[in-house]
This record gives sequence, structure tokens and C-alpha cells, in this order.
Amino acid sequence: MKTNSEASRLQKVLAGAGVASRRQVEKMVAQGRIKINGQVVIEQGRLITSEDRVEIDGKKINLANKTYSYIMLHKPRRVLSTVKDDHGRKCVRDLLPKEIGRVYPVGRLDYETSGLLLMTNDGELTLKLTHPRYSVPKTYRVCLDKELKRADLQILRRGVPLEDGVTRPAKVVADPKFFGSENEKGSEHWVELTLSEGRNRQVRRMFEHFGYEVLALERTAYASLSLQNLASGSYRNLTAQEIASLRQWGTGEITQ
Ligand code: URA
Repeated sequence: MKTNSEASRLQKVLAGAGVASRRQVEKMVAQGRIKINGQVVIEQGRLITSEDRVEIDGKKINLANKTYSYIMLHKPRRVLSTVKDDHGRKCVRDLLPKEIGRVYPVGRLDYETSGLLLMTNDGELTLKLTHPRYSVPKTYRVCLDKELKRADLQILRRGVPLEDGVTRPAKVVADPKFFGSENEKGSEHWVELTLSEGRNRQVRRMFEHFGYEVLALERTAYASLSLQNLASGSYRNLTAQEIASLRQWGTGEITQ
């Protein structure tokens, strides 16, 4: 928020305070959940200053601008991408120091999946990156129990009929040379897959459709970010350039 006398739109102030995205604020206004100085807000785009008292569902909101954190975590297998688990299993936040504060996973990876997980408290960016409209690409390395058949590779590229609909065309590379020497990987069958959607357990379901067993699944890239040599269980802050590049999703100026 600017100085006391300068007015800004309600949705911009609440997004800046990390409360909700602009779109979510508009929804809350439409649902009559927001009050300014004790009065329910009925119009969209209402101007407010830092003098105003804003309540959502009866709770007073701190309007101060929030500093955002953007973290890349290399999630190991057997860690939940939720913030808390009632059964005491390890969660991704347990891998970050307390000073980072409350950051949330952008999307999720299965318990058994490892790899790149972006974590932030920037709700607006999270919403953009996870919105199906923006088709943010995600790359996975998959280890299968047997060699991928050429016919299956073609269907993976075109679209696999799953129970929740046919998948969007995917980029698929199944050349062992791509992953280094065959000796290095033994007799494992590795496939690299880039998807532009993120349905629940999508990669596993795509391969299970043909009868393959997924022995390992790792996400190596998300939007313009790649895991590179970040060790399993480690994290790093994103650079200003990486954050700027992520912000371009949803503005029509996407760079990869
Ligand atoms: N697809 C899956 O099957 N699991 C993941 O964790 C991510 C993508």
C-alpha cells in the first residue's frame, strides 16, 4: 500500500498483501464476503487507502505489502507436497528453514515422485502457473519396467485416452543416448516427457494405460526453470531473472 492518502483498487491491495489473487478477490466481492469500514462491498474495483479497515469473512486484514519468497526445491521421493500431514509423514516445508516463512507448493508432486517443486507465497503467480489456460510445460524423466514400444510412443505424442479425457499432445523422447551411456543406466528404460497440462497422477496414468510399470518418476523442468544439479532435498532461492520470466506466464509474453 502507498501513503495514507493514495487510493488503490481493493483487489490490487489484497493481492499485494498476499491475501488472495485479484481474481479471487473479485469472487469474494461477488459473494459479499468483504467489508470495508463495516459495510459489505458490492461494487468491483473499489478504491481504498491504508486508513480503511478491510475484513474478509469478519476477519481484519493487514494491508501491508508482503515480501514474497520464491524457492526451487528438489523434492525427494517419500515426501508429501502438502504443508502438513496428519499422519506425521515428512512434508516439503520440513525441508526448508523456518526463516523462509510460509511458502506453498505450486501444484504438487506425488509422494513417490521426486524433482523440481516451486514454492512461494505469491498467490497470484501460483494461480497463473497452475491455470490450465496458460499450459505451463513440465518435463519428467520416467523409468519404465520395459522398453517403450514405437506404437505407444506415437499415442503418447498424440494423446492418451484416460478416464478424464484424452491428454494433450506431449513431447516424448525415448532414446537411451539422450540420458547418457546405456551402461550408466544399466538396462533401465528411460523416457523424457514434456506435458502442457497437470492432471492428477497424469504421467503414471499415461504409462499405466499401456501396461508399463513406472519404476521412477522425476520432474526435471517446470515452465522456464530446470532442476540442473540441485541435490535431492536441497533448495535455492530463484534469481530475479527467473522470477521475471515466470511472471510472463499469463501475460502473452512467454519466454522459455
Ligand atoms: N504425474 C504423475 O503421475 N505424478 C506426479 O507427481 C507428477 C506428474
